[in-house]
Amino acid sequence: MTTIPVPLKETNTAQYEEVLRQAYEKAIAYLASLDRAPVAATADLATLRRQLGRPLEARGIAAEQVLADLVADVEGGIIGSAGGRFFGWVIGGAIPAAVAADWVTSAWDQNAAIYATSPAASMAEEIVGGWLKEILGLPAGASFALTTGCQMAHVTALAAARHWVLEQKGWDHEEQGLSGAPEIRILASDQKHASVTRALRLLGIGRAQVVDLRTDSMSRVEAKALEEELERNPGAPTIVVLQAGDINTGGFDAFETLAPMAHARGAWVHVDGAFGLWAGASEKYRPLARGVELADSWATDGHKWLNVPHDCGFAFVAHPEAHRAALSENTSYATFVAEARNEMEWNPEWSRRARGFATYAALRSLGRDGVSGLVERCCKHAKSLGTRIGQLPGAELLAEPVLNQALVRFLDPKAGAGEAEHAQRTDDVIAAINATGEAFFTGSTWKGRRVMRISVSSWQTTDEDVERVVQAVGGVLRAK
Ligand SMILES: Cc1ncc(COP(=O)(O)O)c(C=O)c1O
Repeated sequence: MTTIPVPLKETNTAQYEEVLRQAYEKAIAYLASLDRAPVAATADLATLRRQLGRPLEARGIAAEQVLADLVADVEGGIIGSAGGRFFGWVIGGAIPAAVAADWVTSAWDQNAAIYATSPAASMAEEIVGGWLKEILGLPAGASFALTTGCQMAHVTALAAARHWVLEQKGWDHEEQGLSGAPEIRILASDQKHASVTRALRLLGIGRAQVVDLRTDSMSRVEAKALEEELERNPGAPTIVVLQAGDINTGGFDAFETLAPMAHARGAWVHVDGAFGLWAGASEKYRPLARGVELADSWATDGHKWLNVPHDCGFAFVAHPEAHRAALSENTSYATFVAEARNEMEWNPEWSRRARGFATYAALRSLGRDGVSGLVERCCKHAKSLGTRIGQLPGAELLAEPVLNQALVRFLDPKAGAGEAEHAQRTDDVIAAINATGEAFFTGSTWKGRRVMRISVSSWQTTDEDVERVVQAVGGVLRAK
């Protein structure tokens, strides 16, 4: 066993074999432990710093030892999001075919920058883009990009939007930048995800340029609010940001009404559909997203509801020429193959992981029915968890679950308790549930109230998990 890797010869796979075999065994042992291990992390910051904070030696260490140490040192710091009782934030699991494809992607170590650096990676993305548009019900002619996540999908799509709205005013952003450009205004849901604001900031559009649009009790933009704002300055270059799947309620904006209204004023419509766009894959839930195809751009994730391993997001743009103009940058050494998909013309990275393979595997493994089944199963579990936890003594369901999200809170039983006490109680109950190791939830503040969010996005969640979690939450409420 040598500590200094030597170049691999055709017959010499020995350096890989033992460590990859161990990686396989450790991965399987981890996955097998998910059902009995605590879902939350059990190690604190100091412990993890001590465990992983080994000195970096001058002399290297054998790969097998590095792996064994790594697996031992992360003990207590790996959160059970790959399992079926994790409902925090919006984080999906990873289906077997996608995990396996992700492993071979690492072995292939392709640079998916352009067709020439990996023809197969480019082709996998080309195919995957078509499948995704079909399954999500987006226009067949839309261009697309595979990004690290929805955050960068927003950056990608909104860069195209910025190009387009300024071009309408005779301004070439890619040539002249933003200095001296007509001011862009953003009309966005007041419930928008913070990744939208961050994407805008990265694109040179500050918070002061964002106008919040009033929303209703399901976090849907009120048509009147959009109409009023559009009226306010009809000539301004405008991007309207709507939501397919609000992070708290799972609510959908009324695209059918709002998109034509925005288009009539020359605005671009961008949709944050990080998880909600997947409603389009199910006949049952598709009506929630009615009219979403009328938008100009969309951002969503593969690592949330499609259950592709991190990291994986998708951007789609109905105006490919604006998309390409905003993102592409040619160089003499890039060797573009004109007839092929050169990924860097569409996404914000240069060198990058060939993440199309895992998505390709996920979609083939699930098939159209499998994706639809996954969506419907998660929605069923979210509804059941929200309703049953909401019926427990001291709990309250706050919004009728429409998708894979549910909102509950826990009420302080003391006479005269107000919002502050209920908020404290909600946070305390969340912490106590997580401490049982039986489930993992996160809190949020929704329309001024502290809430526990229930987000079901994993293929692993079963009816038994739902039962087990309801029992665990009931136990915590009885004990408190
Ligand atoms: C509605 C919404 N938009 C955007 C994002 C950002 O997605 P990502 O973390 O994949 O960048 C999230 C993440 O939770 C989300 O829920």
